[in-house]
Amino acid sequence: MIKREIAPQVWSFVVNDWNRRLFDSLIPLPDGTSYNAYLIRGREISVLVDTSDAAKIPEFLTALDNEAPVDFVIGQHVEQDHAGAIPAVMERFPRATLLCTPKAKGMFEDHLHIPPARIRTVADGETLPLGGRTLRFVHTPWVHWPETMCVWLEEDRLLFTCDFFGSHLASTDRDAVDECRVYEAAKRYYAEIMMPFRGQIRNHLDRLGKLPVRAIAPSHGPIYPKPAFIFDAYRDWVSESCKNVAVVPYVSMHGSTERMVQRLVGRLAERNVTVFLFDLAVTDLGKLAESLVDAATVVFGVPTVLAGPHPAVAYAALLANALRPKARYAGLLGSFGWASRMVEQVQGLLSNLKVEFLEPVLVRGCPRDADLEAVARLADQIAERHARLL
Ligand code: FEO
Repeated sequence: MIKREIAPQVWSFVVNDWNRRLFDSLIPLPDGTSYNAYLIRGREISVLVDTSDAAKIPEFLTALDNEAPVDFVIGQHVEQDHAGAIPAVMERFPRATLLCTPKAKGMFEDHLHIPPARIRTVADGETLPLGGRTLRFVHTPWVHWPETMCVWLEEDRLLFTCDFFGSHLASTDRDAVDECRVYEAAKRYYAEIMMPFRGQIRNHLDRLGKLPVRAIAPSHGPIYPKPAFIFDAYRDWVSESCKNVAVVPYVSMHGSTERMVQRLVGRLAERNVTVFLFDLAVTDLGKLAESLVDAATVVFGVPTVLAGPHPAVAYAALLANALRPKARYAGLLGSFGWASRMVEQVQGLLSNLKVEFLEPVLVRGCPRDADLEAVARLADQIAERHARLL
């Protein structure tokens, strides 16, 4: 636990989870993560913004041992990595009330079993005077659950955002000083949970962007003392403009699909299209998700298994479909032994994507020169469409 005073009478409590390698039993965490809570003391009222993951309750409670009680615990988000310690904190401070959005109230009751009598909901824009300083609650639904909100500390111009702008990054740095590292982690985090809600996030950026923010304090990863850094990054990610990038997730069982994929990558490179290639047998799906944030095209390389797509590709397609990237074009190439319904099945898995499906290249057995020429033509189509986009 790292406790720091980040402004007069405002402290961060950072629990680094250095060795966590998976979130939601789904998302890889190559750099661990942190759970950040914030204690704000006014002259009359004290609040605790968020808590910690349930797995870190003992560490979190120990950090609160010498703290005077708080009047309110603010639950910006119900997910257990921030709210997991709320029941224990409410027990530690029996006079405290939990503040949350109306949408969050029932969720706190269901997920954390917080008694309804100890919850008070706050309206969008409502203020809470603490004595000498003022909190304002800003509802920001769907980043990335429906109940989420931010908290604005007006006099100090601090914006507390929970997952919004966060990064899965265990770090001893208080601030985002290593911007390259934080950018990468924040983009990856955006891709994994925020990307499906691009439209809502764009609206929140417009609204929050009007505040004279001095620093952004998320509940994962370091603080942003230069808010423009992460605001600008988010504006880019949520925009409708794509980059000249093709993402190629694939699997190959006996080398046929691999040969086609390599021909595709070579030709795209010759045509100056940036390619991110992922062998799904070994790749990190978080990295794949991150690459989908900007890409104009995604091409799946798919061997046929029992007449359908290789399950590893089906899984990646299901994930891409759930993340709803802004790609404009999608392609399929692959091989089969005797029969295949791979194309229609994979296209069916990608029904959320607003893409033009390019002519697939499906080969029986090992690709011949004519098949590789068809792959090259697919690459040419991609390059030509990208040229029209940019
Ligand atoms: Fe960091 Fe959605 O929890």
